[in-house]
Parts: sequence; structure tokens; C-alpha cells
Amino acid sequence: MTVAAELKPEATLIGSPSGPLAGVISVPGDKSISHRALILGALAIGETCITGLLEGDDVLNTAKAVRALGAEVEHVGAGEWRVRGTEWRSPAAPVDCGNSGTGARLLMGAAAGFLIEVTFTGDDSLSGRPMDRVLGPLRAMGARTEGSRLPVKIRGGSLHGISFVNEKASAQVKSAILLAGLRASGNVEVVEPAQSRDHSENMLRAFGCDVETVDGTVRLGKQRSLTGTNVVVPGDPSSAAFAIVAALIVPGSEVTVRNVMVNPLRTGLLTTLREMGAELSFTNERDEGGEKVADVTARASALHGVEVPASRAPSMIDEYPILGVAAAFAKGRSVMRGLSELRVKESDRLAAIIAGLRACGVDARDDGDSLIVEGLGGRPPGGGSVQAHHDHRIAMSFLAMGLAAQKSVTVDSADMIATSFPDFVSLMRSLGAQIA
Ligand code: S3P
Repeated sequence: MTVAAELKPEATLIGSPSGPLAGVISVPGDKSISHRALILGALAIGETCITGLLEGDDVLNTAKAVRALGAEVEHVGAGEWRVRGTEWRSPAAPVDCGNSGTGARLLMGAAAGFLIEVTFTGDDSLSGRPMDRVLGPLRAMGARTEGSRLPVKIRGGSLHGISFVNEKASAQVKSAILLAGLRASGNVEVVEPAQSRDHSENMLRAFGCDVETVDGTVRLGKQRSLTGTNVVVPGDPSSAAFAIVAALIVPGSEVTVRNVMVNPLRTGLLTTLREMGAELSFTNERDEGGEKVADVTARASALHGVEVPASRAPSMIDEYPILGVAAAFAKGRSVMRGLSELRVKESDRLAAIIAGLRACGVDARDDGDSLIVEGLGGRPPGGGSVQAHHDHRIAMSFLAMGLAAQKSVTVDSADMIATSFPDFVSLMRSLGAQIA
């Protein structure tokens, strides 16, 4: 059963002290890759067959969006989808991206390439998030836009090239520019002082597009048309993170997560956990659909505090909430730097992590862009009521904390877990987690 089916809106969940977690699970498909597979499929000539697609609300909204923009989209079976691309058309109604920044920003980029008019909307959280980071470069390429937060209207077509410096190391911004660039004249390049996740580049190549990365500059070549292909979506490391950290902090646990994508631009959390003394092993390492995957085994470990440099943030940007939880169990202080982007995620995550940790008896604070957690070197008191602010990753992180704290942790608004990890509760329960 999925969380969506188990929960009513505004649902509260409680994570309670649990015995050793044990077992082997597979997490759903990677969210970043799932969005991209649908969007590139919708831009490509011919048919794209996708297996392992994440069927969370965020991605389902992108599927609806590309259908409204003209693509043929067919749900064949669990995780199996077929898409036939087309020349995009102006949709009859606004395109609702729900909670998803990735969906909204990538769709805006792709739509800007066509001579169409599209209005994008989203839920309250997405409507509060900055869109100018994408709209600015799209305007510089020739698109006309209205609004800097959703609803945003885009009138696209007749775009020209751009050389854009991606100061925020945002893969969403980079991807929006590359997707718009597919139908632009002239050179299109994104300079990345720090490299962001490269799934768009990898997948564009798999669809036959000429794209190269040289010395931190991603450049589209002359061959920019896409041809439908098969996409195998690997397991999402950002979802695996919750089971991995839960296994590290619940005494006596051993959990294997199969088929986790271990693209080095996504494994900052695993690197950091190892530095903290985590016992993690990778087996069955292989290449699947152009991405590196492995089975990751985590064993309960005595963790110690860590300093995480700002340069590592792009490779673990979605994992700070669960790292904050791990840091609470570690011995000594942890300092995580360069986290300003956390303020503009599905919630102000820096504030939400700190408030949640404090509610559970852990001393945590920010210092500008840094998060500082005073680890207890053992089980934090717990017993708190944590506000998730309708943020899926905050909810899952504090439910994981409740499994190993001295007392249960209550999380409000856990309904949003369905955006990225619909089976979170049942999979965690299958490992022995007490979540109700
Ligand atoms: C994503 C990029 C990241 C990440 C988001 C997914 C992507 O956002 O936080 O969950 O798929 O490109 P930014 O591009 O804003 O860093």
C-alpha cells in the first residue's frame, strides 16, 4: 500500500523506538532521472520506453504536463511508461507542477523552445519558490515571461544561444537552459564553477544529442535533435538515504538497499557518513542505463562529528535533513557549510532541521549558511512533535530519528512523502521500523 493510500491530507505519523532493522529492499526510481525521462521522451522523435519510473506525485504531474503539451504518454505497467514526442503545443489550461521545482523548472526550459504560450502553476510551497533563476536565462535567450513566482507565463520560440555561469550549481537551472537550447540558434553553454548533477547531459547523449563537458563547461553541439530510446531508471539515492541512516543509528541493524544510483555527483552523503565512521559497503557495482549503480549495505555504527565543506553541497543537497539526524547521534559537533540553497527548497529546510532537532532535545543552530549540530554520541531524547512544513524529506528524516531516539517522534503533514517515496512507510516497516 502506498503512503498516498494510507494517509489523509495533513496526516500525522509517529516514528517509535524500534528493534534492529534488517532486510534487503529496493527504493523507487530516481526522481531527477524520472522527470528527465518523461520530458526528453516528449521532445524526442519516436518512442521512448521507460522502466523503473518513480510513480510519486511529482513525477506524475510531469507526466500529465507533457501530455497536456502534446506528447503521447502511456502507462504500461508498474514503473513502465511509453512516451512519443511531438512538436509541443499551447495547452488548453495552466500546467500544474504540484510540489516539484524540478518539474516546473525543466518544463519551463523545454517549453521556451517552442512558439507556444504556457502558464505554469503549483502548490503553495512551489508558488513561494524563486523561478527567476530559470526565467532570467530563458529571457536572455529570447523567451518572454510574466511573473517571477508561480503562476508564471512563458511565450517561447525563436531562441538564440547563451553562455551562462551557473553560480548556484543548480542542475535545474543548467537543465532548463540545455532543454531550451535544443531549439535555439547559436552556441549554448553553461559554465559550472562547481559541477551539479549531470543526469541531463547523460540522458541527452543517450537520446542522440551532441553535448560535451570540458573543464567545467557544458556545451550543446550541432546535433540537437532527440531520438526516442529506452531509459532504465535506477534507484534514488536520496530515498535510499533514509533507510541507510536509519540502519546506522538503530543498534544492531543491517540493511541492504539494492540498485542505488551511485553517480559521484549524488554520493556526497555516503562520503560524509563514511567520514563519520559509518560501516557502508558497495557490492554488485555496475553500469545501468548510463548511470553507475550498486547495492549499498549499512550496518549500525558508532558515528562521530564531521565537517562538511561547502564544495560538497551540490552532491548531497537533498540529504542535509537526514544528515542532520545522523549528526544528532554522532559523538561531538558536526558543521555543514554552504547551505543557503536549503532556504529555498520545498520548505526552509535549514530552519526546519534546526527546529526539528531542538524539538527532540538536540542542540542545533545555524551560523549564516552553516548548520551546526551538537551530537550526543548516543540516543537523543526524542519525544518531540516535529513540523514538517509539508516537506517530504523533513518528514522522512524525523520519522527515521524516532526509530532510534529514546522516545517516539511525531511528524505532522507526512502526506507529502507521496511526492517522492510513496512506499516509504511500508518499506521501512518491512525492515522492522515502527512507524504508525
Ligand atoms: C534536482 C536538482 C536539485 C535538487 C532537486 C533535484 C534536479 O535542485 O535539490 O531535488 O533534478 O535537477 P537545484 O537544481 O535547485 O540545486
